[in-house]
Amino acid sequence: MSSYLEAITALGNGSLHPGGFSHTVKILNSLSINKSSVVLDIGCGTGRSACYLAKKYGAYVFGLDNSEEMIAKASRRAFREKTDVNFILGDALNMPFGSSVADIILIESLLIFLPPEQALRECCRVLKKGGVVVDVELTAYDTLPPKARQQIKDICGVPQVPLLGEWTDKFEKAGFTRVFVTQNKLPGVLDNLKEMLYVDPHREVSPELRTNWELKCLLFKYKVLMLANRSHLGLGTFIYTK
Ligand SMILES: C[S@@+](CC[C@H](N)C(=O)[O-])C[C@H]1O[C@@H](n2cnc3c(N)ncnc32)[C@H](O)[C@@H]1O
Repeated sequence: MSSYLEAITALGNGSLHPGGFSHTVKILNSLSINKSSVVLDIGCGTGRSACYLAKKYGAYVFGLDNSEEMIAKASRRAFREKTDVNFILGDALNMPFGSSVADIILIESLLIFLPPEQALRECCRVLKKGGVVVDVELTAYDTLPPKARQQIKDICGVPQVPLLGEWTDKFEKAGFTRVFVTQNKLPGVLDNLKEMLYVDPHREVSPELRTNWELKCLLFKYKVLMLANRSHLGLGTFIYTK
C-alpha cells in the first residue's frame, strides 16, 4: 500500500505544506536571520525552503529528512541552485545534532505526522536559548466533522488533526514561550494565484508517479478531501522561543 508521504515524495513539489512557498517567504521575512544564523529545516522535503534560506540570508543551513528520496532531491536542488546547504538523512525524533546549536528551527508540515510532543522536546534540546522555532501545520476547527477527521487520518496517515489550542499546548508543554500564533483559512483561489508567482523551477517528479495509479489516486482523494472540508481546516503558524 502506498502512503501519502510516499505519494508527495514522488510528486516532488518544493512546498509540501499548507500555505505553500508564498507563506514560507512571508514568515521568514518576519524573522531576524543573518549570515551567522544557524538554521535547521526539519522534515525539509525537497529542500526548497532550506535553499531559499541559504541563498537569501546567507545563513548556515542544515536540512534534515528521514526519506532518502527527499534528501536526494534536495541535494540535487542545492546543486542546481548553486547553494550551500547540508542535507542530512535522519530522524526528527532523534536528531543528529548537538544540544543548543540552532538559532532557528523551521518546520513545515512535519509535526502532524509524528508524536509532536517527542519532536518538540527534541527541537527544544537542539535550539539555543533565545532561539526561535517556526512551524506551519494543518489545524482543525472544532466544526470539522468526525467522519472527515477520520478520513484525513486514514489518507494522510496522521495520528490526529489538532485544533489550534491543542497545538499551542504542545509547544508550551515542551517548554517554549509563545511569540506569535495565528490560524488562517486554507488558501483559496486568490492565494493559489499568488502561489503561481512562485513556480518551482527545480521540481522533480519521480517517474513512478506517471505509472503508479495507487499514488495518483491517493493524491486525488487528498485534494478532494481538503476541498470538501476547506472551511473546517486551517493553516496554523506557530512562532515560539526557548
Ligand atoms: C509534508 S512533507 C513537508 C516537506 C517540507 N517541509 C515542505 O514543506 O515542503 C513532510 C516531510 O517530513 C519528512 N518526515 C516524516 N517523518 C520524519 C521524521 N521522523 N524525521 C524526519 N523527517 C520526516 C517526510 O519525509 C517529508 O519530507
